[in-house]
Amino acid sequence: MNYILLGPPGAGKGTQAKKIVEKFSIVHLSTGDMFRQAKQSDKAIASLMEAGKLIPDDVVVNMVKNRLKKDDVKNGFLLDGFPRTLNQAVELDKMLKTENIKIDAVFSIIIDNDEAVRRISGRRMCECGASFHVDFLPPKVKDLCDYCKKKLFQRADDKEEVVKERLKVYDAQTKPLIDYYTKAGLLVDIDGSQSESAVFDQISKFIANKK
Ligand code: AP5
Repeated sequence: MNYILLGPPGAGKGTQAKKIVEKFSIVHLSTGDMFRQAKQSDKAIASLMEAGKLIPDDVVVNMVKNRLKKDDVKNGFLLDGFPRTLNQAVELDKMLKTENIKIDAVFSIIIDNDEAVRRISGRRMCECGASFHVDFLPPKVKDLCDYCKKKLFQRADDKEEVVKERLKVYDAQTKPLIDYYTKAGLLVDIDGSQSESAVFDQISKFIANKK
């Protein structure tokens, strides 16, 4: 089973992805996570991300192409944050054809811009990968990770002006994918304004019925 999570910044893609891959034992492929790793040693990637811009398509496509050749994806994967442009979607289709892989559905998580800004501005991260929200999912002890007790931090691209840029980029470059995947008969709308568990229930039921 192979799925794609589509949605604006703050829609809850990362939050849902962690739960889905655990429940269905598939691999989580987050291009955002891959680039957060890469930006430690690549200044060009770091400055694009910190400005809320997209990484060039050829870089992203190559990275995903290499990742999809690994054995662990054979039992299923969940793409989170990819594709993000029409060109990336077309390139993904080519890769899937070559590797003889099919996508079962594209979950389009929908939230409005005000909610996106509220969620992102309150998000706090830990270097272990855990994610919290100051109001919606606060850590047990303020500013400390529940799991490894390290100090939480705010992502550099979560500052308000960068969030606004990321939302603009989403509208201009990623939203057209909704049409693309509707035409392909793959799009499944998910109301992202519900609670985390309600969103998860909706996605899980869909996947369980497909199995
Ligand atoms: P990426 O990491 O993919 O960022 P994004 O898509 O902007 O998504 P976010 O991580 O901000 O949001 P999310 O939807 O995962 O929300 P989350 O679950 O954390 O990409 C970062 C950058 O990398 C890009 O800007 C670009 O530069 C580069 N990049 C990545 N992929 C690329 C590509 N394909 N091409 C080119 N460049 C690429 O939730 C947010 C907050 O809300 C959390 O605090 C959470 O606790 C809370 N929350 C979640 N769900 C709910 C709920 N239902 N109710 C209440 N609160 C909730």
